[in-house]
Amino acid sequence: MCGIVAYIGKQQAYPVIIKGLKRLEYRGYDSAGIAILDTNGDLKVFKKQGKVANLEELVQQKNIQGNIGIGHTRWATHGLPNDINAHPHISNNGEIALVHNGIIENYDAIKQDLIEKGYSFKSETDTEVLAVLIEDIKEHSGVSYTEALRLGLQQVVGAYAIVMIEKENPKRLVAARKSSPLVVGIGKDGEFLCASDATPIVEYTKQVVYLEDEEIAILDIEKGMKLYSIDDIEKTPYVQELEMHLEALEKEGYDYFMLKEIHEQPRSIRDCFRGRLNAEESWVKLGGIKDYEDKMVNASRIIMVACGTSWHACLVGEYLFEDLARINVEVEYASEFRYRNPIIGEDDIVIAVSQSGETADTLAALELAKSKGATILGICNVVGSSISRITDAGSYTHAGPEIGVASTKAFTAQVTVLTLMALSLAKKKGTITDAEFRTLLTELEAIPTKVEMILEKNDEIEAIAKQYKDSLNALYLGRGNSFPVALEGALKLKEISYIHAEGYPAAEMKHGPIALIDEEMPVVVIATKGPSYEKVVSNIQEVKARKGKIIAIVTEGDEQVKEIADHVIEIPETNEHLIPLLATIPLQLLSYHIALMRGCDVDQPRNLAKSVTVE
Ligand code: G6P
Repeated sequence: MCGIVAYIGKQQAYPVIIKGLKRLEYRGYDSAGIAILDTNGDLKVFKKQGKVANLEELVQQKNIQGNIGIGHTRWATHGLPNDINAHPHISNNGEIALVHNGIIENYDAIKQDLIEKGYSFKSETDTEVLAVLIEDIKEHSGVSYTEALRLGLQQVVGAYAIVMIEKENPKRLVAARKSSPLVVGIGKDGEFLCASDATPIVEYTKQVVYLEDEEIAILDIEKGMKLYSIDDIEKTPYVQELEMHLEALEKEGYDYFMLKEIHEQPRSIRDCFRGRLNAEESWVKLGGIKDYEDKMVNASRIIMVACGTSWHACLVGEYLFEDLARINVEVEYASEFRYRNPIIGEDDIVIAVSQSGETADTLAALELAKSKGATILGICNVVGSSISRITDAGSYTHAGPEIGVASTKAFTAQVTVLTLMALSLAKKKGTITDAEFRTLLTELEAIPTKVEMILEKNDEIEAIAKQYKDSLNALYLGRGNSFPVALEGALKLKEISYIHAEGYPAAEMKHGPIALIDEEMPVVVIATKGPSYEKVVSNIQEVKARKGKIIAIVTEGDEQVKEIADHVIEIPETNEHLIPLLATIPLQLLSYHIALMRGCDVDQPRNLAKSVTVE
């Protein structure tokens, strides 16, 4: 949560930072702030509740000139999302300003100690405590602010990505991280950028250094970059070349990033399997995990950990791995797994699935598994993210930057990678016939075109959305691998339209949710042709008997459901294992249109953040 941007160099810092904050707004958008060291050496701080646009409006007339500054867009953890609690925070003496992403767990004890020493606090945040702690350390030990930051961080329990500017040293930024991401961009002529991800950086430089845990970077316009451990041991920065393209960060004519990302799926799914499968020659290869495939094939079980939409992708993965490769899979919420004292050991394989690769609970679950000797693998979208770096091996989803907070193309890409993995393992294990293998590969190659065909139904889906935009509740039902699709459909609707929605296995409906059904209740059913088709048709009858409204996702040409459902959305026929890749698309569009008609901000839904880097 929270986005950080910092700049030092020859350009004006303010426009660079504001633009960067807009790129990072998906990480939190309840308040934003900026601190610039102006040309007179004064620290100018502006903070505003709400989105970055509010901050921009506040600063517009001020004409601040300065080449060094820090900015922050917040997702509140400690303290209300108001102007005062917004970052940056400054020390009591006004000498330093800090932006912070993470949580300082022992901030209260430190704060009490500082209050006893006579310091005061304006905000309720843990970050201000850190700023004052640094001031206090400097006061008492006479070290520089940079050294005081290092010593202060040794007292801190929790997670942080921090950037500090100092009035007495206007030629440097000081950055540090532990458990929250921070990337340093190295520009020309002593220019440096610092950000929570690379999106604010890519426009200025492609040379980046991803800070590791407990590293402190001093970014000096004259002396260059120096990297230290929190124990003051100098390290050599590992400079990498960014592979990101600027166009991927723009809306490119779409009204919302979510709509753009929904429409990108034919491309993102294709990019995901490009070079990894060949139906004609009948092969699949996932280079990243090839050294671990033998272990996976022989594993008595594989554990998948994730949160949110990525957890739903894991549920689809469970069906694929079990059915195709006959490997036992357990899917866990990372947040539960990490605190449950799970039984894991050296024979276990834990796969983390994460779009951002930064989700705190998923990272912690992996760290726990690693500490018990398990092999840890990752499926991430963001290249160079924390999860991709701590895992033994993994596969990227290659969906490109996903900016809409509600995940769409990242989900279908995750499912695509899991499908490729399951197929590769099945082939190795001999649990799939050559004919079935080839058929599935051919079908997978055809998925992008079929997604395109579903996207053409946009107007039809919009018309259905119109009829249900004022619903208070919605139920989503599916069986087998369509059950996770139902969960994902319900999550999309509640995330962006704030309509209460539940996903249920269709047969479980009669154990509870059926009591909710009346003429006001839309029930979205995934009723595609497959082994449970007839049973799902019976579930639809049960809903109709209680006057519920049915929106059914059916296979092209279906006649039976058409007769009983209020609305049908046809999707092209495909192999039953690949249905989630198609059935998800109309549900994304349905949520999108409903949210839009309700006047919701589909890209930045209230209270949510794209990347949850705190517990
Ligand atoms: C947040 C996002 C979700 C996402 C989840 C897991 O809740 O709003 O869209 O599915 O985090 O994120 P990850 O980056 O680990 O996939």
